[in-house]
Order: sequence, then structure tokens, then C-alpha cells
Amino acid sequence: MLRWKRILLGVTGGIAAYKSADLASKLTKQGADVHVGMTSHAAEFINPLTFQALTGNQVISDMFGANTETSMTHIDLARRVDGVVIAPATANIIGKLAHGIADDWLSTTLLATRAPILVCPAMNTRMFENPIMQDNLNRLKQFGFHVSPTGFGDLACGEHGPGRLLEVEQILELVHLMLSEKNLTGLKVLVTAGPTREHFDPVRFISNPSTGKMGYACARVAARRGAEVILVSGPSSLSEPMGVRTIQVTTAREMEEACLAYYPETDVVIKTAAVSDHGPREVSPHKIKKADQKPTLDLVQSPDILRRLGQEKKRQILVGFAAETRNLVEYAKVKIDEKNLDLIVANDVAQEGAGFGSDTNIVKILFRDGLVQELPRLPKEEVADIILDRVKDLIEARSKNGAPS
Ligand code: C5P
Repeated sequence: MLRWKRILLGVTGGIAAYKSADLASKLTKQGADVHVGMTSHAAEFINPLTFQALTGNQVISDMFGANTETSMTHIDLARRVDGVVIAPATANIIGKLAHGIADDWLSTTLLATRAPILVCPAMNTRMFENPIMQDNLNRLKQFGFHVSPTGFGDLACGEHGPGRLLEVEQILELVHLMLSEKNLTGLKVLVTAGPTREHFDPVRFISNPSTGKMGYACARVAARRGAEVILVSGPSSLSEPMGVRTIQVTTAREMEEACLAYYPETDVVIKTAAVSDHGPREVSPHKIKKADQKPTLDLVQSPDILRRLGQEKKRQILVGFAAETRNLVEYAKVKIDEKNLDLIVANDVAQEGAGFGSDTNIVKILFRDGLVQELPRLPKEEVADIILDRVKDLIEARSKNGAPS
């Protein structure tokens, strides 16, 4: 969440300016106090009133005009903001910023602020590929600006290539990565997510309804907080989180291989994946036909990855998940011992607002000493944040007790 963050959204004059209305809305919905500063060209593309309605704050575009509260708004806001996003950033604002030109409200404010600035370029492919533009972007990076990649595809000008404004959801993630407190720096976190699939013929498989939302939230939040994150994901329709190394797998066996490969260098494992507990003993090389004899499935157990990680545990913190439909806490308590875990996150998947596919979760966090932390219904990202807080507590307690970290 971006609660309590004051963000200046700089909008400059490109056709992608209409997309920044969506960005302003999403930033505001995540709890940020959004102030929009527009260039006069941007105001030709989109009416300032749109941003005013979406953010609840007055839009500033004119250095000396009626919509500036005081003659010093550029200094005022420059001092008070936690972060700046320029989206879309035209060739013009990038050129001005790279060379210290301050000839309107936005460019002056950008020079006056010490807050981190994310520049999201959007322009015609040829303009973007122009060596002058690339040089300006490199200059900005050298000065410590965050520069987003551009999207690739069809542009409004009819060209095809780089230069599209990055998707709003991805810009939002870059804002999180830029503004989140970096309190997990130096930690290597391995997250597993999604279901696995165990095929019994080329087009059919045994699986479960896991979407990967909880695991992807853990990976995103850990990366925002500065951890180095590897996400081992079973089949999922979610997009790969930014700032995270994602490894796509299909079967439990493949997930196990990927986990074991990274385990020795990992500090924390968060195992949200809903691994299919059973798979077929044999896989038919061809699709089983309806007309064939009624098929029977002979099942074997899939590898229990977490149990194996528990057996091979050295210094790692192991977090397991327990999805149950009854006797939640009792089953979870057994699992924490059996699989040699440090924490287990238990959720009753039968409850509304919890479990598979939901954007929220209702969980209980169980510790080895029997302590249970009960959480209310929360967005999965907030649940992820709290799990990572508890992991951080464990690591800090360990280093205080002098245990090797
Ligand atoms: O034993 P159960 O499936 O209830 O345990 C759930 C936890 O164990 C989850 O963290 C899940 O990712 C992990 N698990 C595993 N390999 C399996 C089954 C579950 O790693 N085959």
C-alpha cells in the first residue's frame, strides 16, 4: 500500500496522457495523496479537471496562474513530496531534466525536489531510439533517476517498436519498488506459488484451483522491501512480478528441482504453492480416447518438497502454508513439527474472502512455540507484509542470540 505517501504525478504532453488518469486513480486508491502537475501541452490532451476529480487535489500547471496556491508552490511541493512519477515523460521533459532547464512549473519543481523521481518515457519509436534521447536517459540514470522501460508494440503514430508508455500496473509496481522501505536488503528469498499439474495424457492433468495470488504477493512485497527474490511458479495467468526472478515450472518434480537448486544459497523460503499431492503412475503418450476402455488412474504421491527442505535445513527460515477446510490449527501444528518449519500460515479455504483466487485472505500465523497470531480479512499483499515482518523478527532474534545467520 502507498498509505501516507505524498506523490507528485507529472503529466507531460503525449497521447499517452489519458493513461495517467488511470494511474492517478490507482495511486489514490492505494492510499497515496496524489498531486498532479501538468505541462501546458498535457492540458491540450486531457482536461486538468479529470485529475482534480480523481485525486481530490488541485492540479498545478501554471507557474504564475490562478491555480497555484502561493507563488512558491514549486518549492513547497518539491519539499513535501515523498516521490515523483513523470508519466508520460515526453522527449521534451527528459531533455530538459537531463540538462537542468527549468522553464515551467513542472520542470522547475523537478529540479527543486530531493525526492526520488521515476521517469516513464513515452514517444514515437524513432524519437525514442534517437541517440540523443538514449544519451539523455543514461544521463538521468547516472544522476540517480529511476527510468522505466517502455512497452513494445503499436504506437498511436502508426509505428511498431519500443516507445509505448509502460502498462499502468507496471508503473504502479515501479512506484512501490522506489518508495518502499528497504528493510530486507541482503536477504535471499525463495517463494513458490500456484498449482502444479500432473499430466496423465498430453491434454489432461490433475491440479487444483490455486491462482498463485498469495505467492506472487509475497514475491512482490519481498522485492519491494529490498530482498533478492526467486519465484518458482506453477502455471498461473498472473504476470511475472517486476524486480523478481521468476522460474516457470509445471509439475511437482520440476518445482522440487528448482527449489533444491536455489536452496543452499537461500535465507528464507515461503512455500505458498498448492502442490498436487498425487500424480499418475504412468503418462499416456497420446490422448486417451472416449471410446477406449473406461480409464482408471493409478496414483502415486508427488514429492513433498517442503518436507525435504525441512530435512535439509541449515540456517534457512522455512515458512509453510496450510490450506484446510476443517481442524485448521490442529493440522497446522502437526505440520510445523513434521516438516521442521519456523512458521506456518494456516487458512481455512472454505471461508468467504480467503484462499484460492481471492484477492484477500484470512489467516492465522503459527510459531514453533505454539503462539498463534490471528489476522482479520486483509488484501493478500498486506498478509504478505505481515508474514515478512514475522520472518524479519525471527532473523533478528536469532542474530541477537548469537546464532549464525
Ligand atoms: O502437507 P500439506 O500439503 O498440507 O502442506 C502444505 C505445505 O507444504 C505448503 O507450504 C505446500 O507448499 C507444501 N507442500 C510441498 N510439497 C507437497 C505438498 C505440499 O512442498 N507435495
